[in-house]
Amino acid sequence: MLTESRSMKAVPVQPRWNTVAWDDDYGVGHDGIDGDHRRLFELFNEFVTAVNENRGDGDVEAVLVELLKYCDTHFDREEKLMREHGYPDYERHKALHDSFVREIYDINNAMDAGGEQGAYVLGMLGTWLSGHILGVDKKLGAFLKERGAAA
Ligand SMILES: [Fe+2]
Ligand SMILES: [Fe+2]
Repeated sequence: MLTESRSMKAVPVQPRWNTVAWDDDYGVGHDGIDGDHRRLFELFNEFVTAVNENRGDGDVEAVLVELLKYCDTHFDREEKLMREHGYPDYERHKALHDSFVREIYDINNAMDAGGEQGAYVLGMLGTWLSGHILGVDKKLGAFLKERGAAA
């Protein structure tokens, strides 16, 4: 009976996730920011690969931690540039960074709970990365360019 009730539950198929390719369209026109974004793509892809290869929790978490650390470094860089140049949209842009970091830390805990959360992380991360870069980071890049801010 036990086995029968268990078989009633749908067993999720292990999803496979796509890596993201850097494209010049992601360039915001500031060398420092673009270099960071490229590195974030690389780390994101390492994370996708670790998950796709079903590596152990320790390995997957190590890659995620590296990605998180680099996000911190990168967000600090952007926020410093915004402050230095009196960026008018600083508060809103910083709030987006902050909520992203909070969400990722929640996810880091949720990863322990397994598959569905892991899938959510990957979907969210990839969408966030490209969406944030193409949206607010592009605006920041254009602003810095206009100000003649050195890369
Ligand atoms: Fe960025
Ligand atoms: Fe940003």
